[in-house]
Amino acid sequence: MTDAENTGFSADWLRQREPFDLAARSPSLTLGFRDALRPPAPAALRIIDLASGSGANFRALAPLLENDQEWRLVDHDPLLLAAQRSEITRWASGRGWHCHDHEGGLAIHAGPARWLVRGQQLDLARDLEDIDLASCDGLVTTAFLDLVSAVWLDRLSALLARTPRPLLASLTVDGRRAWFPARPADQLIADAFLSHQGSDKGFGPSLGARATPYLAAKLAVAGYQVSTQASDWHIGQKHSDMLLKMAQEAAAVAAETDPSCKPAVSSWLADRSTDIHRGLLSLDIGHLDLLAVPHFHVFR
Ligand SMILES: C[S@@+](CC[C@H](N)C(=O)[O-])C[C@H]1O[C@@H](n2cnc3c(N)ncnc32)[C@H](O)[C@@H]1O
Repeated sequence: MTDAENTGFSADWLRQREPFDLAARSPSLTLGFRDALRPPAPAALRIIDLASGSGANFRALAPLLENDQEWRLVDHDPLLLAAQRSEITRWASGRGWHCHDHEGGLAIHAGPARWLVRGQQLDLARDLEDIDLASCDGLVTTAFLDLVSAVWLDRLSALLARTPRPLLASLTVDGRRAWFPARPADQLIADAFLSHQGSDKGFGPSLGARATPYLAAKLAVAGYQVSTQASDWHIGQKHSDMLLKMAQEAAAVAAETDPSCKPAVSSWLADRSTDIHRGLLSLDIGHLDLLAVPHFHVFR
């Protein structure tokens, strides 16, 4: 199951992609987000993560935000919400941090900082407007916006216009995919993949690679200062499991999009599998991070 194919995401898949996401994130936009957050001192920073999955965004950002923090991790998938506790506990234990249940959430004692994480089940396609932005200092989302439609991004922009808050939207695919070394059939696979990204993932026709520029333009009109930066995945030759997964996913999507290409797709996958087993293949997948800060916010 993959990002491009449908709206089901397993905790195993999110765990597999997490190190690639972590390596790809734009450090400067993350720091810009941190500097734009203005908690009512000395209170904890309050962050909402949209489509949080098993909590990778929390794990990436909490150590960089340098405060006591309260996180609300919003997703519609009960299995992923249930996985948050074990994934966060395993991650925290690996760093020598203590976790315990607290006020309906999970408290993590990370050195001098204390972070409280609560999950919330919500269908963001239907109930986005239930998100209470006034109850948070900043909004984040990762690997999500390429699933949504223009109409949904209009709704998100309207929410952020009514209640201005810094937004960090990381790791939205931007359509670039480059296999090294290149093969002639890569273009066939890439075209099928791109056209498949426009399918409906529950939010109306997905914007896919066009999501970040679309949201950037909307938020600029709504009075935000918007910056974007590349946050590309670089999947090196030694990551054979991830490369095989990417090649199989690309082939499956291409064959589904245009069944007449099946023979060419099978032959491409056989060649790519051989490249992977020989340790010859690597892959770059383009993503964009977006930071939007309301104009009244002054960087510290
Ligand atoms: C590619 S995963 C990213 C998860 C997480 N942000 C991460 O980086 O690991 C996309 C997420 O969107 C969530 N999602 C998809 N449709 C949703 C909906 N209608 N409401 C809420 N969450 C949704 C999925 O359950 C999944 O957790």
